[in-house]
Amino acid sequence: MSKEENPLSPTTAPGENARFDSALRPLTLKDFIGQKKLKENLDISIRAAKNRGEALDHCLFYSPPGLGKTTLSHILAREMGVNIKVTSGPVLSKPGDLAAMLTTELAEGDILFIDEIHRLNAAVEEALYPVMEDFIFFISTGKGPGSTTLKLAVPRFTLVGATTRSGLLTGPLRDRFGLSFNLGFYGEAEIEAILERSAAILGTKASAQGLKLIAARSRGTPRIANRLLKRVRDFAEVKGAGVITPEITEAAMASLEIDSEGLDNLDRRLLLTIAEKFEGGPVGIETLAVSISEEQDTLTDVIEPFLMQSGFLKRTTRGRVLTPKAARHLGFKLPRQQELL
Ligand SMILES: Nc1ncnc2c1ncn2[C@@H]1O[C@H](COP(=O)(O)OP(=O)(O)OP(=O)(O)O)[C@@H](O)[C@H]1O
Ligand SMILES: [Mg+2]
Repeated sequence: MSKEENPLSPTTAPGENARFDSALRPLTLKDFIGQKKLKENLDISIRAAKNRGEALDHCLFYSPPGLGKTTLSHILAREMGVNIKVTSGPVLSKPGDLAAMLTTELAEGDILFIDEIHRLNAAVEEALYPVMEDFIFFISTGKGPGSTTLKLAVPRFTLVGATTRSGLLTGPLRDRFGLSFNLGFYGEAEIEAILERSAAILGTKASAQGLKLIAARSRGTPRIANRLLKRVRDFAEVKGAGVITPEITEAAMASLEIDSEGLDNLDRRLLLTIAEKFEGGPVGIETLAVSISEEQDTLTDVIEPFLMQSGFLKRTTRGRVLTPKAARHLGFKLPRQQELL
C-alpha cells in the first residue's frame, strides 16, 4: 500500500484533500479537544500578552505528526487577533528569504509560522537568533576588510515553530523560544469527541459504538481518526444505509487490513521482522530499516512513536526490542530473557 492510500499514516499524503482537513480544523482554543494542560497554559500566555498589548512570546510546538501543531498555530493567530504568515524550514533556504519575509510580510504582533523548523539551514538559523532576541536582522555586505554589517530593525512579531523532531533542534534555537509545548497522543475518549465533532460537520450519522471502534484504531492521532472516519463513511454509504454502525466499521477496518489494536500491515511487518529475523531484538534501527525496505526517518518519525507509546516496541541502548505485549498480539514466543522486560 502506498503512503497516499494508507489511512494510518499520520502524515499528510501528497494527494490528500486539503479542504477536508481544513473543514475539520478547530478554529478556537475552546473547540480544540484534549491537551488540557497545554491549552490552559497557552490561554494564560495569550491573555497576558493581550492585556499588555504585546506580541506573544516565541512559541514552539513539538509532537509526532497529526496531533495538532499546525491547527494550534492558526488558533493562536486567531485568539491573538493577528495575521499569520506560513513558511517552512526547507523553503527558507537563505538568510535573504528570511529578511524578505520579516520586512515585507509581517506587521507588529503578527505570527510567522515556520513548519519543520528543524530543517532550517545553519545560515538562516544563525540569522534568526538576533531576530528572535532583539528583532534585529544583520545584513553583511561585501567580503574581506571592506565588508560592512548593516542592522535592520524588524517588527516585534511572534515566531511559532513546529517540529516532529525536537531532538534535532540546536540548543541555541530551542532556548530562544519563551514558550515550548509538547503535544502528546490523545486518549480514546478525546478521539471519540473529535470524531463526534467531525461526523457532525460532515453531516454523517454515526452510532456511539461505531465511533468508539474507530477511535480505538486511530492511534491517538486526530488526523488518522478523521481519515478513518472518512473511509468508514464511504463504506456506510456504499455498503450500508449511510449510518456508521459497529458492523460497518468492522467491515471497513477488515477491508483496510487494520487490526483490533489499530496496527496496519507495515506495523505488523516491522514487529514480525524483529520477531522472526532477530529473535525479538535488540536490533539496530539501520538494520531494521534495511530489512523492511523503509526509510529510517519513516520508522523513527511515523511508525515507532505509536508502537512505543502503546507498548509494542521498546528502545534500548542496544536497539529495538519487541515487548511481551507485541509477542502476544502476533502469537510469537519470545526468547526467555525478554519475557522479563
Ligand atoms: N485537538 C484537536 N481537536 C480536533 N481536531 C484536531 C485536533 N488536533 C488536530 N485535529 C485535526 O487533525 C488534523 C491534523 O492536525 P494538524 O495538521 O494540526 O497536525 P500537525 O501536528 O500539524 O501535523 P504535522 O506534524 O504532520 O504537520 C487537523 O486537520 C485537525 O482537523
Ligand atoms: Mg502541521
